[in-house]
Amino acid sequence: MDKSFILKGNICHTPVPGQLVIRENAFVVCEDGICRGVFDEVPERYAGLQVVDCGDRLILPGMTDLHLHAPQYAFCGTGMDDELLLWLERTAFPEEMRYADEAYAARAYGVFADRMKRGAATRAVIFATIHTKSSLILMDCMEKSGLVSYVGKVSMDRESPPELTEESAASAAAAEREFIRESLDRGYERTMPVITPRFVPSCSDALMEELGKIREEFDLPVQSHLSENPGEIDLVAELAPWSAFYGDVYDRFGLFGRQGRTVMAHCVHTGEKEAERIKECGVWIAHCPSSNMNLSSGIAPVRRYLDQGLRVGLGTDIGAGSSPSMFRAVTDAIQVSKLRWRLSGSGERPLTFAESFYLATKGGGSFFGKTGSFEEGCEFDALVLDDAVEPCARRLSVRERLERAVYLGLDERGIVMKFARGGLILEKKNR
Ligand code: GUN
Ligand code: FE
Repeated sequence: MDKSFILKGNICHTPVPGQLVIRENAFVVCEDGICRGVFDEVPERYAGLQVVDCGDRLILPGMTDLHLHAPQYAFCGTGMDDELLLWLERTAFPEEMRYADEAYAARAYGVFADRMKRGAATRAVIFATIHTKSSLILMDCMEKSGLVSYVGKVSMDRESPPELTEESAASAAAAEREFIRESLDRGYERTMPVITPRFVPSCSDALMEELGKIREEFDLPVQSHLSENPGEIDLVAELAPWSAFYGDVYDRFGLFGRQGRTVMAHCVHTGEKEAERIKECGVWIAHCPSSNMNLSSGIAPVRRYLDQGLRVGLGTDIGAGSSPSMFRAVTDAIQVSKLRWRLSGSGERPLTFAESFYLATKGGGSFFGKTGSFEEGCEFDALVLDDAVEPCARRLSVRERLERAVYLGLDERGIVMKFARGGLILEKKNR
């Protein structure tokens, strides 16, 4: 199948935050990987294109997992009784050390990429580990999966176990340059490097400065963590006493959106000044509700961020997040927002289903440019979902069917076709 075709079915998307648009038995046109819009009849000018009849199935935009750690999929669902700093020490770091072994990395990243392929994400922004060769192995695996992704070799030179501490800021910078050059040399079609200071505690000022220079040199995006957990935030205040707030540290080194795209995971405890800076710099926030519950980090004030006009998407944050499902991230985001509303007394209304669906599709997708809905001109990422894998006696509207499929977590079982940039990357012939 080439990259020009038409899908026919029940099309659901959120071109505008909070507004679910449903077109039953409609046609969505993909031309050379670009969406040409949704139509009730096939327009004359597209009459020559192949029509794939999806019957009564749902057709949704592909989702973006805006923050996750590939090496942590190996322990996903275990080690959940600690808060962030202790969890890093006892669960995350010991696993990440194993990626010094490239044979292990090849096996583990193969399993990870296979899971990504089966899920609802067509795009992802991913942390690897400090190991250059293993990080390139992850890029090979992601390229093969068909997803469009950013992969970052992680930079760390302090406050970490010796096995995960790069020798010096200079050697960490050299390794980062090597990673970037090699990944660009490999000529991937859909896999791109991203600069990845793990978080402020694990990067010296000297390393941050180097990463700022590398960002400028290669003009690449940046990913990191921000204001996630109280223990971490105290440590940042200790390590960078000169900073006005946590995010100020990244900004000082040219790693906070002003100069190029940046995504920061969490922002659970972001105050007013930090939120203002995030807005000024155009930083994306990756909201990771499962992770925030598991590490007892708290509940991010997403309603406030949306009201302020900040850019927000959703992340699974595997493996602090305990589910690789983006459908689950959508419902977790709604559910934690309800708890925050009830418990905080702040009057911040909970997220609606349509708002959370937007965050998972167009919200996070905007980090990649124009994708995440079926508007004219978007890169065509789509899921064909067979919600009949979970039978239901009642006759439901298409809107109800979509909400039910997401709440019941039918992504892995129900996706029968998945497209990224117009390419068919998954097709199930089991029904
Ligand atoms: N902060 C620094 N590293 C990590 C990590 O691996 N996971 C999460 N959730 N937060 C972090
Ligand atoms: Fe994370």
